[in-house]
Amino acid sequence: MKQKEIQIRFEEYASIDELAAEDRELAGEAIQAMRGAYAPYSHFHVGAAVRLSNGQIVRGANQENAAFPSGLCAERTAMFAAGARFPDKDMCSIAVAGGVHGRLAEKPATPCGACRQVMAQYQTKAGKPMSVIMIGAHKVWKFERVDDILPLIFDSI
Ligand code: THU
Repeated sequence: MKQKEIQIRFEEYASIDELAAEDRELAGEAIQAMRGAYAPYSHFHVGAAVRLSNGQIVRGANQENAAFPSGLCAERTAMFAAGARFPDKDMCSIAVAGGVHGRLAEKPATPCGACRQVMAQYQTKAGKPMSVIMIGAHKVWKFERVDDILPLIFDSI
């Protein structure tokens, strides 16, 4: 038996203003995207923004439905829109912001497991790392690749 360890590295910033220009722009888009949330049940508004290899940014926001499983998270709304509109472009980066009634939460917006799996597959499709930026009011986390937030991803088929 061997003891193994997985290390996760990420960067922490005090605000999106500390991010490099491209990431700052993407983070700003994610915050703006929160306005598109339709969240009459949870009142938790989430915005996401995906940067493509051609520089294009595609936004998404969570969409809820009375038949609960029919709704969709902001991240998948953005990624599926990007995938459908620009099938030949790689997804390089995604930023996520969230908060109750559209007010940015203190804790950075940490994507759910299903969204991480979808990120992982678009990263595999691209064949290069996709960075993930999670935005909070006074704390911003940046992960260089999806593997850092979803180790041992399912990619066997
Ligand atoms: N939500 C997202 O949009 N992204 C996540 O990663 C987690 C949760 C949404 C789904 C639902 O509309 C609301 O937040 C509360 O769960």
